Amino acid sequence: LPSQLMRCGADGSRSEWKMKKILIDTDPGIDDAMAIHLAFAHPGLEVVGLTSVFGNVHVPVATRNALRLVEMAGASVPVSEGAAAPLVQPLRPPGYFVHGEEGFGTVPAVRPVARADTRDAAQCIVEILGAAPGDVVLCPIGPLTNVALALELDPTIVGKVAEVVVMGGAVRCPGNATPWAEANIWNDPHAAARVFSADWPLTLVGLDVTEAVRCWPQDFAGLAASAPVIGGFLNDAVQFYFGWHRGKDGFEGCYMHDPTAVLAVVEPQLFETREVPVRVETAGARVGRTVADPGAGSTLVRVCLGVDAEAARQRMLAVLAGADKVRDSRLAGQY
Ligand code: BDR
Ligand code: CA
Repeated sequence: LPSQLMRCGADGSRSEWKMKKILIDTDPGIDDAMAIHLAFAHPGLEVVGLTSVFGNVHVPVATRNALRLVEMAGASVPVSEGAAAPLVQPLRPPGYFVHGEEGFGTVPAVRPVARADTRDAAQCIVEILGAAPGDVVLCPIGPLTNVALALELDPTIVGKVAEVVVMGGAVRCPGNATPWAEANIWNDPHAAARVFSADWPLTLVGLDVTEAVRCWPQDFAGLAASAPVIGGFLNDAVQFYFGWHRGKDGFEGCYMHDPTAVLAVVEPQLFETREVPVRVETAGARVGRTVADPGAGSTLVRVCLGVDAEAARQRMLAVLAGADKVRDSRLAGQY
């Protein structure tokens, strides 16, 4: 088992991690790949499944990529294919310019050996949450279409999920898809509106914090050295993502959007939050905007507004550096 299995308290005390089960809904995606490997390698998390959704790539590619990540982690959890298009608005073109045509930058596509689960993603979400009431954290890191469809299929999941931790939105800062909207919400604002108004414990990990957590070329070079399989893959994939940030944001590195959401599941003490209803604009020039609006109903969302960015970066790198060891233990049946 990995050495990070003990956690350190602020007072220097050491205790064992209590593992949280996590179900990740994803559109892999370069930062999705980082998030999924972070989850597989983190001693406080047990990944119980992945569900795929359109977004960074079309959904069949998202499913294929999710299967590849599971195989790479030495795991065997269900991967279930989900929505190919948003609930209401037309499908927007995939984010090829951010993640590359196959989703992992210029890393060539590989056909995974494993097959996707026969269940649809919404059904899979309902069944996994229903099988372990109160135990599973749902962590969507793509457009929220599958989650909205799962809510429609079985509204009782609001009382079964341990919590929902979403990568999406921009509350106090500009968007990244448009000046107002973050990409995951912009890709299906109607789904986001349903998910944010449902009566379940929901944390929003938006650009307010994910743009504060950055990693640099030397960080990924270090991961490639300490974990040649998984760190090496991430280092290869992230080179394309660096190019996107260089052109759009003017720095040599990348935002750690999706891994920040996974970290918020297991290390919430690194974040400052405020509870407030969140409204989503579903039409007009500001479509996809997330507005913290005390008058927007009674459902409170826990919005992340601050993060200890350096601690988050270091924690991600420390966990990912051990990813190959965790993979090897898993393959040897010891994890
Ligand atoms: C989000 O959009 C996607 O490009 C990323 O994978 C992340 O989920 C960031 O806005
Ligand atoms: Ca994503």
